[in-house]
Amino acid sequence: MSSRKKLIAGNWKMNKTSAEATALVTDVVTAVGKLTDVDIVVCPPFTALESAGKALADSNIRLGAQNMHPEATGAYTGEISAGMLRALFATYVILGHSERRALFAETDAFINQKVHAALKNQLKPILCVGESLAEREGGSTLKVVQTQLEAGLEGVGKDQVSSVVIAYEPVWAIGTGKVATTDQAQEVHAFIRGLLTKNFGEAIAQKVRILYGGSMKPANAPDLLAQKDIDGGLIGGASLEARSFVELVNAAAAAK
Ligand code: PGA
Repeated sequence: MSSRKKLIAGNWKMNKTSAEATALVTDVVTAVGKLTDVDIVVCPPFTALESAGKALADSNIRLGAQNMHPEATGAYTGEISAGMLRALFATYVILGHSERRALFAETDAFINQKVHAALKNQLKPILCVGESLAEREGGSTLKVVQTQLEAGLEGVGKDQVSSVVIAYEPVWAIGTGKVATTDQAQEVHAFIRGLLTKNFGEAIAQKVRILYGGSMKPANAPDLLAQKDIDGGLIGGASLEARSFVELVNAAAAAK
C-alpha cells in the first residue's frame, strides 16, 4: 500500500460530440462524482471540454485535455494553448501520447516544451512514455522509456515534478486487447520510480503518480492496480462507457 492517491483518467481520443460528452459525464458523476479516495479525470476532445466541464462542475471529477501547443498565442493554425484550456477549467493535460508521437511526429524536445508550458499555467501534465513491440522484442524497453522520461522532464525543477503524472503505456498494448502482464508493467513502473529517485530524490519520487495504460479493463485492473508502483490507469476504450469507467474507478478505490 502506498500513500499515493490512485488516479483514473479517461482518454476519450477522437470520440464523443459535445452532447454525447454531457451524457457520459453526467452518468459518471451520478455514480462516482462524490468519491474522494480516488482522483478521477476525464479528457474529452477539445470540442467537448466546455460541455463536459459543465456536467462535472459540482463533482470531484476533474477535466483534462488530450494535447496542447507550447506557445501562449500566435499563428499556429489549428492549435490550442494552455491558457485556453485553463479558461475552460481544465486542470490536467495528456502530453506525448504515443499516437501523437507516431501519427503527428511529436519529438521528445517538443513534448518537453509542452510540459514546461503546462506547468507554467498550473496544468498537471500526464506525460506518456512507452515502447513499441519491435523495441520490446529488441530488448530496448527500458532504454526507450528512460530517454522519453528524461527528455520529457528536462529542466523540470524538484518543486514542480510532483505535479507531473507519468503514464507508462506500452504501444503494443494500446487498443489491442493485449494488456501487459502485471510483472511486465510493475518492472517498468519500478524502473521509472528509480529514475525519478535518481533525478529528483527519494521523497519526491515517492509522490509522483505512475499510471498504467494499454487495454486496461475492469477484468484486468485489480491485479494491475495492486502492484506497488502502479498508481492508477490511463484508460482509452473502457472510458467511453460510463459502466466500464465507473468499474475501473471502483477497482482503484478498492485497491488503495
Ligand atoms: P486503450 O488506450 O485503453 O484503449 O488501450 C489507452 C490509451 O491510449 O491511453
